[in-house]
Amino acid sequence: MELNRRTFLKTTGVALMGTALPMSLVRLAFGAHSPAQDFTFAYISDAHIQYIKGDKFVRNWDMGLIRAIREANLLMPRPDFFMFGGDLAQLGMKEELDHGLEIMSRLRGKVYYVIGEHDYYLDLGEYWQSKIGPLWYSFDHKGVHFVVLNSILTYDNWTHKKWAAPMDRMLAMARLDNPEGSPFMVGEEQIAWLRKDLEKVNRSTPIVVFSHSPLQKIYKGWNFWTEDAEKVQALLKPFEKVTVIYGHVHQIQYNQIGNITFHAVMATAWPWPYPESYRQVASCLPKLTVHMNRADPFFERDATGWQFIDVHEGKAGMHYQLPDNENRSVVFNSKIGYPQDLKYQDSGNRIPPQTHY
Ligand SMILES: [Fe+2]
Ligand SMILES: [Fe+2]
Repeated sequence: MELNRRTFLKTTGVALMGTALPMSLVRLAFGAHSPAQDFTFAYISDAHIQYIKGDKFVRNWDMGLIRAIREANLLMPRPDFFMFGGDLAQLGMKEELDHGLEIMSRLRGKVYYVIGEHDYYLDLGEYWQSKIGPLWYSFDHKGVHFVVLNSILTYDNWTHKKWAAPMDRMLAMARLDNPEGSPFMVGEEQIAWLRKDLEKVNRSTPIVVFSHSPLQKIYKGWNFWTEDAEKVQALLKPFEKVTVIYGHVHQIQYNQIGNITFHAVMATAWPWPYPESYRQVASCLPKLTVHMNRADPFFERDATGWQFIDVHEGKAGMHYQLPDNENRSVVFNSKIGYPQDLKYQDSGNRIPPQTHY
């Protein structure tokens, strides 16, 4: 085939549209009288680097992460730091974590990590911790208190039951709708730690919590769920400005529960459909979550794109630029007290769930 300039531009254009990758820029903007300074950080999540054999990895997932990092390195102004939201590996293998971290090392700046179940359930986080660090921690940055939780733990008797091989446990936790699976949780040890950690934080200090699973209950069959979410929410309740940002669900979700604003960040690997479009059951999503205006949830690159999170005085607004979809904004409305998508909040403007199964 003769590749003339016109064809080249056309195919390149399509390729760029089709592989636009999710990365979030989070801007924390504070009023003139606030002691906190404005700054930004960027967020990349769910790369699912997957080992095949020899030196081969699933190329699409590699490329997803590589492209997000390229975009992140071009951001202006430079983000103060980067967050990685978990599921760096697909099956927790050393090969996957090493390869993922090698790609991540191209990111120019400080990176904080959240652990995902795909990183954890092969060796219970041992290798991840040896390469990256603690599974939960907090830090302060320019007047904001950041908390990183490991929300993908589960009941000890499930974790430590006699698995024929560690990979059986990993695969059991990786599968959707698996009756042999187990719900995610933060657990008592971490909740006690969080209670102590928050004791020293002023009630008016903005708090941003990073977790892998949603710290709310959305859909248990896919572990879009944290069993003890309410306990964490209760600890966050006394604070004026709380935002929870999570990965894992590979789709746009947002919600408001009391004082807490929730936002999911999309994946660099693939988008999940909304649970109801897969299960054909009534929606288990919180009613404030607006359905992604997605033409085809099983086209791996559809409805991925950039999302910009703008956290103003602790309240989040998201600006999505979705390839092949209309751009949209989800912004906190202080009059009604929750985030609103001005266009798609109206169910008449949504594309209904797709029946692919
Ligand atoms: Fe994931
Ligand atoms: Fe996950």
